[in-house]
Amino acid sequence: MSAAHEARQRILLSPPDVGPREEELVVEAVRSGWIAPLGPMVDAFEQAMAERTGRRHAVALSSGTAALHLALLEAGAGPRTVVIVPTMTFAATANAVVYTGAEPFFVDCDKETGNLHPELLERALRELRAADETVAAVIPVDLLGRCADYTALLPICERFGVTVVSDAAESFGSSHAGRPAGSFGSTAALSFNGNKVMTTSGGGMLLTDDTATADRVRYLSTQARQPAVHYEHTEVGYNYRLSNLLAAVGIAQLERLDEMIGRRRALRRQYAELLGSVSGARAFQHPGDESDNCWLTAVVIDPAEAGWSADDLRSTLDHADIESRPLWKPMHRQPVFAHARTLLTGAADGLFATGLTLPSGSSLSAAQVDRVISAISAFLDRR
Ligand SMILES: Cc1ncc(COP(=O)(O)O)c(C=O)c1O
Repeated sequence: MSAAHEARQRILLSPPDVGPREEELVVEAVRSGWIAPLGPMVDAFEQAMAERTGRRHAVALSSGTAALHLALLEAGAGPRTVVIVPTMTFAATANAVVYTGAEPFFVDCDKETGNLHPELLERALRELRAADETVAAVIPVDLLGRCADYTALLPICERFGVTVVSDAAESFGSSHAGRPAGSFGSTAALSFNGNKVMTTSGGGMLLTDDTATADRVRYLSTQARQPAVHYEHTEVGYNYRLSNLLAAVGIAQLERLDEMIGRRRALRRQYAELLGSVSGARAFQHPGDESDNCWLTAVVIDPAEAGWSADDLRSTLDHADIESRPLWKPMHRQPVFAHARTLLTGAADGLFATGLTLPSGSSLSAAQVDRVISAISAFLDRR
């Protein structure tokens, strides 16, 4: 791309970062003749991902949402059960609960990390147990790449005998207490959507140590086809497997993962430095992000102290053709979930009102990074 063209282009929040290696492996996959879903690239991708996350099994699927859906079905989510979901998440987490017929119950977050608040989770589980309700699962979400506080959350879930489905859609490459994201819970879901740290254009993965779960997920994700010469089905299945061509992209991306995370981390540092001395502003989840993949960097602004708001910065950047976006609008604020039960403190509402995610992609060129930093600096100078 020419420098002049790049200078005019809108800068996006987290565009895909693909290059010659991805192209090479996709061409190899096409030439191999394995065009239909599944094939040797899928097998190799699954094996590499299981190794990277320290899991016994990895099942490549068409999306992170599909991985959550099947993980929840395996946990026993269905009609007349409840699944606890942090209200601070992307809609896919809650949607997957609804697909199973279970009821999402939204719990608030820790205001420093945006992740599920352990004490609130415990309270919610206690209240639901007292009401004799069946909680099929808890879904901790690793917000913006920061692992949830599994050290605190897992013992609580264990005490209540509740299955943990980890939503690690945003956190591949991060770790918590020395263990990789995706290694927590009975199952974990990864996303390879185009905006994530690594992509297969669209795709996801279910990770587990349990062989029976992995076998069931492979079976359900291929239309629940029975082993017969004709098509035989004894239950409803899904068309959720990943194609061999997309797995080729995944293998190439995995080779480059650490380098791509390094670029996101460097950007996070630049933002943190720029905002470090600005009163009323702070880089969200920083410091303390040494083990994070820094998927998205967000700034949190206290308008009373700063004299300007997250939305002032957003609209200034938008005029400079730079994308930024408020933190996730909490699920309990979404019209589609307006009637859901909740346990709230106002923390997620606060983050939604004051948080803004900034361009964080590993494919941003030095000139694009300069453009963003200059636009923010100019905005701060005017204030
Ligand atoms: C927290 C979270 N959960 C689930 C998903 C769903 O993943 P996918 O888009 O691959 O279905 C995403 C991202 O899109 C996400 O950010």
